[in-house]
Amino acid sequence: MYRTHNCGELRISNVGQSVTLSGWVQRLRRMGGMTFVDLRDRYGITQLVFNEEMNAELCNQANKIGREFVIQATGNVSERYSKNDKIPTGDIEIIVETLNILNPSDVPPFTIEDNTDGGDDLRMKYRYLDLRRNNVRANIELRHKFCLAVRRYLDSLDFLEIETPVLVGSTPEGARDFIVPSRMNPGRFYALPQSPQTLKQLLMVAGMDRYFQIVKCFRDEDLRADRQPEFTQIDCEMSYVEQDDIINTFEGLTKYLFKEVRNHDLGDAPFLRLSWHEAMRRFGSDKPDMRFGMEFVELMETLKGTGDFTVFNDAVYIGGICAEGCAEYTRKQIDELTNFVKSQQVGAKGLVYARVQEDGSVKSSVDKFYSPEVLNRLKETMGAKKGDLILILSGDDANKTRRQLCELRLLMGDRLGLRDKNKFALLWVVDFPMFEYSEEENRFMAMHHPFTSPKPSDIEKLETSPAEVLADAYDMVCNGVEVGGGSIRIHDAELQAKIFKVLGFTPEKAQEQFGFLMNAFKYGAPPHGGLAYGLDRFVSLFAGLDSIRDCIAFPKNNSGRDVMLDAPSFVDQKQLDELHLNLLPIEQK
Ligand code: AMO
Repeated sequence: MYRTHNCGELRISNVGQSVTLSGWVQRLRRMGGMTFVDLRDRYGITQLVFNEEMNAELCNQANKIGREFVIQATGNVSERYSKNDKIPTGDIEIIVETLNILNPSDVPPFTIEDNTDGGDDLRMKYRYLDLRRNNVRANIELRHKFCLAVRRYLDSLDFLEIETPVLVGSTPEGARDFIVPSRMNPGRFYALPQSPQTLKQLLMVAGMDRYFQIVKCFRDEDLRADRQPEFTQIDCEMSYVEQDDIINTFEGLTKYLFKEVRNHDLGDAPFLRLSWHEAMRRFGSDKPDMRFGMEFVELMETLKGTGDFTVFNDAVYIGGICAEGCAEYTRKQIDELTNFVKSQQVGAKGLVYARVQEDGSVKSSVDKFYSPEVLNRLKETMGAKKGDLILILSGDDANKTRRQLCELRLLMGDRLGLRDKNKFALLWVVDFPMFEYSEEENRFMAMHHPFTSPKPSDIEKLETSPAEVLADAYDMVCNGVEVGGGSIRIHDAELQAKIFKVLGFTPEKAQEQFGFLMNAFKYGAPPHGGLAYGLDRFVSLFAGLDSIRDCIAFPKNNSGRDVMLDAPSFVDQKQLDELHLNLLPIEQK
């Protein structure tokens, strides 16, 4: 038997027992004639003691082991002389009688401690060592608990967990697909699913009524802190539901998860709901961080045409935010903000500021263009008080400028410590526009996806003014992160065909790509809708992580590579031949 207990289990009540533990050597200390070893496993750390006086040979053996050796030790549980109240096993230690080295270890490339000396790349290359660290392991444990709670809750509501295939057909909408060549069908390719969207709709046609799946999705997009090329969704679909049914069901699940997994009570009140247009107008984002205010104030009336500042006089949108207590910002701090809004990430042309001084007067970077009366009106419109700093952006595209102002708002929120990771502000953003126009593609694209239902009252605008059509689509947002999104679906083949037409598909192309779905709709499709949560994003929020990578056991790096497995990699010519693939010349790195 390798062990009678794990390394986090023994307490004062076990004193006197003979036990066997197995684990990794975290640390080794020699003091006088004693050797102390911290033995670690997933469950904790227990101190082993080797006493030279009692057994010189054994102590000698212990002195030869090194960090991360896997050892087995048998001995007696004894009360510790100097207790360690930082660990649950800190009252006891094991006086070792036999030691067995199960496997030696090379010196690890970084320290297996909470604050490791290993950089990102090294930790990813040796992820199996990184995962031995407490904080990384804790994230994986949290993820497990989260998934269990999801299954428990959804099972209690009669949802069935159903697997859908990973080798599917390529679809033209959305992100780029990862594609997989088929040896048995030369020249043809599978795609990995970006989400099981159409399959879960077919499960509704199949009468499954309530479906969920904790499922891998694959999207070939540029990576960011909250994006991975393969990520996990909690994907759900329900039949015979309207938007409110979905919202109520998943508000219930969300509250349950917060309570069970994060020990955080979200209260009984329903989540706030903001329409997409309102969220854009007030916060410049379809995923506003509502942990703090600093709402946008539109300043067109106050500043356009009321002075000689041509930038504002030419603007289509002027908006400001009020940073409380920041009037004292130095020239250097203001320059930092200006450089930030002008950076490539934000893309604004410049920043105008106005300080509300101690005497209530306003001192701004555009003083020479405006009268004191106008500046005073600015202060009042903004609701600014003594000591506040007003920050203003303008531009010739309202939503673009609002998005830039949103970046500035978030930065100021960070600077003012308003984005506390232990505070959670949830809301639904609803009534998304059905389409957005892509200049690149020169056509309308679906804002959510092409299977989303337009609001019934807007269907008649589909042909005349598609830009105005609103969708029965909703996103769940927490702390500025889109944690989930979904919609009521079209269940009518004719309406689906109309949508494909707006999206620029010929009937033949629509049939070729989505015939399987439209045909299914001819055989009694129930009204249905659903939603998918981004599991990695949700768990990261619970764990207070900056990147979703830290809650994924084996994540990809920023270039989409798994540096541990060295994937993606080149394949042999033989494999390419079997797949009937010819590669174009590639510049080898
Ligand atoms: P959507 O594309 O909005 O909807 O995705 C749902 C949720 O998945 C998460 N997410 C991601 N997480 C990590 N890395 C990524 N690259 C990534 N992309 C998306 C987000 C997002 O809210 N089929 C629809 C859902 C539906 O309509 O039911 C869908 O996939 O948290």
